Amino acid sequence: MKVLITGVAGFIGFSCANKFINKNIQVVGIDNFDSYYSTRLKKKRVQILKKNKNFKFYKVDIRSKRELNKIKKIDFSYVFHFAAQPGVRYSLINPKKYFDTNVEGFMNVAEIVNKKKLKKFMYASSSSVYGEQKKFPTSEHAKLNSKNPYGLSKIINEKLGQVYSQEFNFQFIGLRFFTVYGEWGRPDMFIIKLLNSIRKRKIFYLNNDGNHYRDFTYIKDITKACYSLFKYKTKQKHIIFNICAGQKVNIKKLTSSIIKKYPNTKIKKIPANRADVYQTFGNNKKIVKELKIRKFTKIDQGLKKTINWFKISKVYKLI
Ligand SMILES: NC(=O)c1ccc[n+]([C@@H]2O[C@H](COP(=O)([O-])OP(=O)(O)OC[C@H]3O[C@@H](n4cnc5c(N)ncnc54)[C@H](O)[C@@H]3O)[C@@H](O)[C@H]2O)c1
Repeated sequence: MKVLITGVAGFIGFSCANKFINKNIQVVGIDNFDSYYSTRLKKKRVQILKKNKNFKFYKVDIRSKRELNKIKKIDFSYVFHFAAQPGVRYSLINPKKYFDTNVEGFMNVAEIVNKKKLKKFMYASSSSVYGEQKKFPTSEHAKLNSKNPYGLSKIINEKLGQVYSQEFNFQFIGLRFFTVYGEWGRPDMFIIKLLNSIRKRKIFYLNNDGNHYRDFTYIKDITKACYSLFKYKTKQKHIIFNICAGQKVNIKKLTSSIIKKYPNTKIKKIPANRADVYQTFGNNKKIVKELKIRKFTKIDQGLKKTINWFKISKVYKLI
């Protein structure tokens, strides 16, 4: 059995690949080492994976069908499509990149892997598809209300999943991730960004005085859920899950709990960013029931592990 992971040099792709190869699953990973954030960090992740004989890497840009031909002959049983241009704020600056990478890239990947052996095509969606909501915790049935081109590109992915699932002979599973954090996390996201600013004695710019809520979800809960998807059985041709801890965390409180440990932290308050929603807080009942997940990691525990890893790994040298 062979598994394709796109965006394998990224946070979630790397973390899943690492789990799967250590469970003796053969993983083929692709990535183009996009420069949205540190390519040194991305290369380091791939270097770690390459030490395991179950892992093979190809440098591929999913926007190019020609480059995707490198993997055309491989018969995959499962695909985890994680490659994307992430980030809500940058999507207001360079919206076209989101359509090229997230929409066209999605179509290119789905079409190239469309073979007899493929059973399931898992793809990353996002809590950003919800935009501003009134009812919390938000369930999968909520009306989608994306606020930025990033969220819109993920809504289109879900629509494509729906249409392709009728056309193609494999199932599509959309994963609406909510603010994922933890070991090997993204340096453009809140926790690693703050820890990095502290370590480098740089000013941390806090939007809207931290008056936001996010459903922080620990990476090992994500990789566990993704691993369970191999055995998951459903008759539905296309199914969508919220993957979230189901806990709303106040950014102001989270900031205080981190800077309590580092009293010299320099914080500068800046206005809210118009790409950001006020609150994300997901309902995870569907995934808990379907994948028989026992519990999600609480923010205090996950944060502790992230801070320890940040110190020991010396990742700040790469970002
Ligand atoms: N991390 C989160 O909190 C979060 C939340 C919601 C959704 N998601 C989604 O989950 C997926 C993984 O996110 P992540 O946090 O690991 O992001 P990431 O940026 O760390 O990983 C994405 C990877 O895709 C690669 N990539 C970008 N453009 C590419 C291209 N044209 N060809 C090949 N590879 C390309 C990047 O180089 C990167 O390594 C993304 O689809 C993202 O939108 C993430």
